[in-house]
Amino acid sequence: MTVETGRLAPDAVRTMFDRIAPVYDTMNRVMTAGLDRRWRGETACAVVSPGDRVLDTCCGTGDLAIAAERVGGRVTGLDFSERMLERARAKSDQVEWIQGDALALPLADGSFDAATVGFGVRNLDDLEGGLRELRRVLRRGGRVGILEITRPRGVLRPFYKLWFDGFVPLAGKLLPGGSAYTYLPASVRRFPGAKELAALMETAGFEQVRYRLFAGGIVALHTGVAR
Ligand SMILES: C[S@@+](CC[C@H](N)C(=O)[O-])C[C@H]1O[C@@H](n2cnc3c(N)ncnc32)[C@H](O)[C@@H]1O
Repeated sequence: MTVETGRLAPDAVRTMFDRIAPVYDTMNRVMTAGLDRRWRGETACAVVSPGDRVLDTCCGTGDLAIAAERVGGRVTGLDFSERMLERARAKSDQVEWIQGDALALPLADGSFDAATVGFGVRNLDDLEGGLRELRRVLRRGGRVGILEITRPRGVLRPFYKLWFDGFVPLAGKLLPGGSAYTYLPASVRRFPGAKELAALMETAGFEQVRYRLFAGGIVALHTGVAR
């Protein structure tokens, strides 16, 4: 398990995010030319209705949880990195922020109407286990929205390679916790494609699974309903 293979043990993932917490939001804005905010807004709108109890797991510095709260959700944001959570807490006191493991959620069965994960599932040591945990804490009929980087096909592929395999790791070398930006493209390479992720969601207990691609197929939003 190394940054080069894009697979790290949970403790190493947590340490990595603790280390990059101070630059995480800035790197997001730079790497996506500011589009990440729009994608999180679209994710929240796709699955959250006003009054919903919402879990945003792997919430990091909190932007997706806050987007869900703006749509009218009563939101719990969960992450295992205390440094990422500190930043989230500083942004909003409307969201309940808790430290916990997405693979063993400290939450009751069927206790949420909607769940979101933004750029989080790719980091899980056990993706299928993480999807099953999301299903467990949702009520039947509850909705899930998973926003994740994916690999584009077609004309955008060479530009993506240049950006993601060239610029991103280079920028990381200049920043604290730079190895995270070697891990990032490697973790995308080993992560299932959009179709495969949809199939895993179905196996984990979701139906009506669909996905939309953003930015020419660089990012995918998968949605589903707990059956
Ligand atoms: C790339 S960040 C995404 C943060 C945020 N959701 C966003 O949209 O920017 C991934 C986050 O997942 C968290 N994470 C990874 N594995 C986790 C786990 N097993 N349990 C809880 N959090 C986890 C990391 O600490 C990190 O904050």
